[in-house]
Amino acid sequence: MRLTMIGSGYVGLVSGACFADFGHEVTCVDLSEAKIAALQDGQIPIFEPGLETLVSENAEAGRLRFTTDLAAAVADADVVFIAVGTPSRRGDGHADLSYVYAAAADIARAVTGFTVIVTKSTVPVGTGDEVERIMRDVNPDADVVVVSNPEFLREGAAIDDFKRPDRIVIGIEDERAREVMTEVYRPLYLNQAPLMFTGRRTAELTKYAGNAFLALKITFINEMADLCEKTGANVQDVARGIGLDKRIGPKFLNAGPGYGGSCFPKDTLALVKTGQDHDTPLRLVETTVSINDQRKRSMGRKVIAACGGDVRGKAIGILGLTFKPNTDDMRDAPSIAIIQTLRDAGAKVRAFDPEGMAMARGMIDGVEYCQDAYEVAQGAACVVLVTEWNAFRSLDLPRLKASMAVPTFVDLRNVYRAREMEAAGLTYVSIGRPAGVDSDAAAAEAAE
Ligand code: UDX
Repeated sequence: MRLTMIGSGYVGLVSGACFADFGHEVTCVDLSEAKIAALQDGQIPIFEPGLETLVSENAEAGRLRFTTDLAAAVADADVVFIAVGTPSRRGDGHADLSYVYAAAADIARAVTGFTVIVTKSTVPVGTGDEVERIMRDVNPDADVVVVSNPEFLREGAAIDDFKRPDRIVIGIEDERAREVMTEVYRPLYLNQAPLMFTGRRTAELTKYAGNAFLALKITFINEMADLCEKTGANVQDVARGIGLDKRIGPKFLNAGPGYGGSCFPKDTLALVKTGQDHDTPLRLVETTVSINDQRKRSMGRKVIAACGGDVRGKAIGILGLTFKPNTDDMRDAPSIAIIQTLRDAGAKVRAFDPEGMAMARGMIDGVEYCQDAYEVAQGAACVVLVTEWNAFRSLDLPRLKASMAVPTFVDLRNVYRAREMEAAGLTYVSIGRPAGVDSDAAAAEAAE
């Protein structure tokens, strides 16, 4: 089939490359000439493991093309995916749909023959109706059906998530379009990924409900971690203890510095707005948003407390800046608020991240960027592990300690075990675990 992606950002590029890999003929479109020129040249604008190879292999095989010529790409296509950004709108936090609506109008002008228009961007419930209205306004003769097909992939694991999804949700109210979408996803569905057909509004809301539920799950365990710290309980064991209950499940129960990234913060906020618009306040989601915002700054205060309550003039080393490992994405990363809190308190911040420093430089002022973890530690009154990159999982602890001014290590991802840190002479502070006691869960994991 001939598929066209409007928008060659994270979702458009990953989906386009994966669809091409399934054997479809894919054209990725973007407004940015620089981005398209780079992609034609084999350069990938984002850091995503495996993506460069997937793009180059499929481009060489002639199944994946890049262009700025939207009209030609749409005219030829059986299916057009809208995969443009829906950032938070300045001022009210609602999803900014201007790119989606502009794409809808451009597609309507160019479309020929029966074409399925698929919204892959995360859009509030009811957006498909508006996309359809715009298309009919611009081109009343267009033979199109508008479908919702939200994308659930995670950064850093995007290709695997796309190729081995837990489910594919397709919001469709037309039999012809249903046949086309079944064909599009045939390779996955043959791999037994459940293809789930719903109403269009249901599919749109399912994406937000999924992200909000995961954000809520993380926030719940983060609050439990705070309570564990006050009561001497161990949050990793609590997480394991509840996660083994199949009704709860073990995933997304890692306590940490709060969720960040390009989806959870923006989508939870947009869902809150949708609830308000429909006179249905979503209080659990509202509370999740506010707890998570406060948590990021409170992590800064946790570091200050670990330094005896005063960081004025002290060097604090930060390991990891991105919102999670295996990405260069800094959007809503907890590191931003943590560093701000430390700087407000007079600390000198040194940091290293394997992929995030280029983006961080444009977002955080007054940080001294280093070459590796050991340079970060030099003269530091405290080293803080903020993002659990593999590079920080097996640090040479004696070497790290030797260059620190004060050997305090704050582990906001519970990567290390208290015993090994203490054996290396480090004062160890983690999340929701009593000092000096290792988790039974961590011990079991290490033994596996
Ligand atoms: C998320 C959703 O998982 C994905 O389905 C959706 O399509 C986009 O949003 P992503 O933002 O790439 O994906 O990252 P994810 O791995 O979900 O992590 C999000 C944030 O939650 C990160 O900051 C991560 O550190 C945090 N997190 C995750 C925790 O703090 N604890 C956990 O147990 C899991």
